[in-house]
Amino acid sequence: MRQKLVAGNWKMNGSRASIKELLDGIKKGIGDVVNSEVAVCAPAIYIGEVESQLSGTPVAWGAQNLSTEASGAFTGEIAASMINDFNCKYVLVGHSERRTLYGEGDAVVAKKYAVARAAGLKPVLCIGETLDERESGVTEQVCARQIQAVIELEGVDALADGVIAYEPVWAIGTGKTASPEQAQEVHAFIRRILADQDAGVAEKVQILYGGSMNAANAAELLAQPDIDGGLIGGASLKAEDFLTICRAAG
Ligand code: PGA
Repeated sequence: MRQKLVAGNWKMNGSRASIKELLDGIKKGIGDVVNSEVAVCAPAIYIGEVESQLSGTPVAWGAQNLSTEASGAFTGEIAASMINDFNCKYVLVGHSERRTLYGEGDAVVAKKYAVARAAGLKPVLCIGETLDERESGVTEQVCARQIQAVIELEGVDALADGVIAYEPVWAIGTGKTASPEQAQEVHAFIRRILADQDAGVAEKVQILYGGSMNAANAAELLAQPDIDGGLIGGASLKAEDFLTICRAAG
């Protein structure tokens, strides 16, 4: 059985005060979450605070992005080693907002995956189709292409060291969640294409669903056989909602 993972993606939200309040709330309720892993991916500038508040708790933490470079003249960028320095476990790579708003293509995302992995971080590879792509019937091709970019650079084994998050772009921040059946279909497809290359990796890799997962719809999504957790945006900013999702994961 794959362990479930519920990861919050705070995106560019919060302040020192609101983050303290949010983490206090999560810490208070996290005792009820027994079987699943829980993590929060914070804005980089707050990761040090998150580390001090979460050290010694069962909640892991991570970053939302990283540089492809190790160090040097890359103003504004954050290296994998820096993320490691703050004991992050996870780092998101290729979130659809990075792909669409900041022009990150498959090759850059694959490089980020490789750099994160080499640093001992667990990359969360975010993939998913736009509404146009879904309506043109190319959801599977898009997801396969986004995963294949990592496999070509690093080999299929590399996926066993990370996590995949299937996030249909049309469901992110829109309140339009994929139905459990729609999500399960794509998750099963992803596992199938991995199994074609390596059955062990396919069995092991956690595939999270992301896109308007919330306290009301989480249980049904998380009950699907190939949905191994959630990547939660908006609902991860409220302790009670986030905890409800974590409890639904078990
Ligand atoms: P959402 O975001 O839950 O607000 O839709 C999910 C994500 O972008 O990771």
